[in-house]
Amino acid sequence: MSKLRWGMIGGGQGSQIGPAHRISAALDGHFHLTAGALDIDPARGRAFAAELGIAEDRAYGNWQEMLEAERTRPDRLDLVTVATPNATHYEISRAFLEAGFHVLCEKPLTMTAEEAEHIVAVSKETGRICAVNYGYSGYPLVRQMKAMIAAGELGDIRLIKAEFAHGFHADADEADNPRIRWRYDPEQAGTSAVFADAGIHAFHMACFVSGQTPAELSADFASMVGDRQLEDDAMINIRLSEGALCRLWTSAIAVGRMHGLTLQVFGEKGGLSWQQQHPEQLHWTPLNGRTQVLERGDASLSPQAVRASRIPIGHAEGMPVAFANIYHDLADVLRAEQRGEEPDPLAMDFPSAMDGLWSMRAIEAAAQSARSRGAWVGL
Ligand code: NAI
Repeated sequence: MSKLRWGMIGGGQGSQIGPAHRISAALDGHFHLTAGALDIDPARGRAFAAELGIAEDRAYGNWQEMLEAERTRPDRLDLVTVATPNATHYEISRAFLEAGFHVLCEKPLTMTAEEAEHIVAVSKETGRICAVNYGYSGYPLVRQMKAMIAAGELGDIRLIKAEFAHGFHADADEADNPRIRWRYDPEQAGTSAVFADAGIHAFHMACFVSGQTPAELSADFASMVGDRQLEDDAMINIRLSEGALCRLWTSAIAVGRMHGLTLQVFGEKGGLSWQQQHPEQLHWTPLNGRTQVLERGDASLSPQAVRASRIPIGHAEGMPVAFANIYHDLADVLRAEQRGEEPDPLAMDFPSAMDGLWSMRAIEAAAQSARSRGAWVGL
């Protein structure tokens, strides 16, 4: 089976997220890194592309050059990943979708809900996929949670507790470090800092596993370090479409917390608990029953979790492997399209532009609610 042709924008040498994408896309052998505009500096981008084995004529100085050249090639790209800084996502994703490319965009999809609505509309009009890299939803046991909830094993979902709290912006002496400062500057970061950057993953996970959409929310934002204008800690209550309540805590000042992404779901028939730092175990407690530990790699898990696992039970997988499940899903869908067949329904679990839009609505609603001392805001 020939490989799918894959292009990257951003993710240049030294970038934070670029390597995770390259590992993830390569993991199952579906994608070949064929073209790229990898860096804001054209020369550095071309040099790094050469190092990665991209042919000289497909190592571009910028994304506009890449778009113009790739759109007319008979061997055009099957998928383009956008891994540039946030403010560029809308323009780049939109341009590639309009030119007929499938896109996987890093989060956040856009800077505003209005822009995200445009992306959803363009994706619909062109029939091109716009996936968003809420990659933590690729963990096998997160997919197990979703499958158990969908199968009714928890009954009606009453409460979700979602957290993404770390402590890496807690040092007041570091607050003026330019790498940290911009995140709390509304001119550069938008209306929200830690919720938009970290908490939004917890928000997506709550919606993903429950299969519910957000209806309204109430937020309390706090800025605890120096003269930060945007929040470094937030508590958000979210009412979901089928009646579940999600209580979400996100923080950048929780000293001692590392990645701090956790998810607990409490239904009328039982509770589930998962921590991203211990992703190989899922705790399941049936009502009035004993707590059981479900292990990733157990063949008796749901088909969704089994499909998302690669390494035998007891051997830890990890974050790039979770991201690889997004690429695996996309590869299956793209190959089905090429064969003119319907995709495997199990491959349709990747986060879409609609998820990106809900996230942008949530960020705007949370900022609005926080400004009015926690008033409930509809989404
Ligand atoms: P970074 O600053 O470490 O790297 C950005 C890269 O993009 C650099 O190589 C830079 O030269 C390149 N670049 C910038 N503007 C460009 C342009 N116009 N054209 C081509 N290349 C350009 O940033 P990082 O941390 O890798 O973040 C990138 C994106 O990934 C952000 O949107 C961020 O929110 C997202 N991200 C997502 C994570 C997730 O869990 N899904 C985790 C970390 C980041």
